[in-house]
Amino acid sequence: MIQSLRGMNDILNQDYERYEYFLSTASTIAKRYGFHYIETPLLEETALFKRSVGESSDIVGKEMYQFTDKGENDVCLRPEGTAGVVRAFVQHKLDKKGGIHRFYYHGAMFRYERPQKGRLRQFHQFGVESFGVDSVYEDALMIMMVADILKTLGIGYRLKLNSLGDHHCMPAYREKLVSFIESCGDALCDDCIRRKSTNPIRVLDCKSESCQNLYVNAPKLIYNLCDGCQSDFDTLKSILDAHNIGYEIDTNLVRGLDYYSKTAFEFVSDAIGSQSAIAGGGRYDRLIEFLDGKPTPAVGFALGIERLMELIVMPEPIREGYYLGAMDSESLGDILKIAESLRKEQKAVVEYEAKTLKAHLKGADRINARYCAVIGENERLNGTVWVKDLAKKEESTFPLTHFTTKEDK
Ligand code: HAM
Repeated sequence: MIQSLRGMNDILNQDYERYEYFLSTASTIAKRYGFHYIETPLLEETALFKRSVGESSDIVGKEMYQFTDKGENDVCLRPEGTAGVVRAFVQHKLDKKGGIHRFYYHGAMFRYERPQKGRLRQFHQFGVESFGVDSVYEDALMIMMVADILKTLGIGYRLKLNSLGDHHCMPAYREKLVSFIESCGDALCDDCIRRKSTNPIRVLDCKSESCQNLYVNAPKLIYNLCDGCQSDFDTLKSILDAHNIGYEIDTNLVRGLDYYSKTAFEFVSDAIGSQSAIAGGGRYDRLIEFLDGKPTPAVGFALGIERLMELIVMPEPIREGYYLGAMDSESLGDILKIAESLRKEQKAVVEYEAKTLKAHLKGADRINARYCAVIGENERLNGTVWVKDLAKKEESTFPLTHFTTKEDK
């Protein structure tokens, strides 16, 4: 039997109900904040991710589904959504138009990681990207939006916050950090020694305990910010305080993608095991120009849908619509007619097999219908329909014409 690939899951039955519930909740909230849907391709030129997420990142360096297509193009399945949205923003010349552009998206992302609970090779993100606002109030808005989505879904979280500085303060900090890394000598792992020359700040989120013990004494970017970054970070904290959104400063939070500057944040859950990051984001003011666009400030985030699905508190299901069944095959024609008419306004699910009343009532319960409508020989001869309201537990008999529209009669 052919099975799905490792780390790539089907989403069906109750999982799909959760998935749909998540999407409708998050999309409704994103629209309320003024974001519009954008869809970008799953396959992009590899260069897009090399130039945005960064060649030194694990995502680009180790985890891309990259291949040469039949036209000899170097392409890859998107490992994340931001780069594609920025490409579309520049390609459609919205950078030249100016003003504020806010997008949301959702869909599959691909990373060739080692699969484990909460870590997939094909997973789904819900993300938003905001272009054209350099005020830190927009960063706060992003965080408030994630908090809003998580609260609506009944999900508890911890928020980790950091500032990655900008092109004014980052270079001097990088030099300080490199000197510190050099002072550690051979005590560091091979990855950290490699990162010293590719992207030194990534050493700070090294998973090795012995490296982390050394980095306790490393210089912290948060104490080396320039005045502009410091003032933005202070404002961000005071907005979150004013909105009762708790946070912890995590000076090692550098994120796994190279495009960030200033605000970086991650929402984590303590209830889903080691893969605890449920959302991540931040500001990326330089990325639009790196991808040949007009310099435009930008900020965004993405939520990991599979991780959230473990945590969502689903609302009590409400019974809705009709289940329709026949007790003999001669009544099926009438059942189909009623269903067609009802379906113009509500759910109407037909069971094609003639069954006993008890079996139909079970069927109605299974699909969570509000009403079970059945026609047997008696009803057919009398031109009536037997209906049970499964919420109120009341039974009634209606003339068939009660259900058919004027044109049907
Ligand atoms: P990210 O932190 O790489 O950010 O991913 C966002 C979320 O996707 C993570 O917090 C996690 O919940 C989920 N996720 C990541 N990898 C996996 C995986 N292998 N299996 C399951 N879930 C996973 C980004 O992708 C940025 N593009 C976010 C962003 C948007 N920043 C600015 N705008």
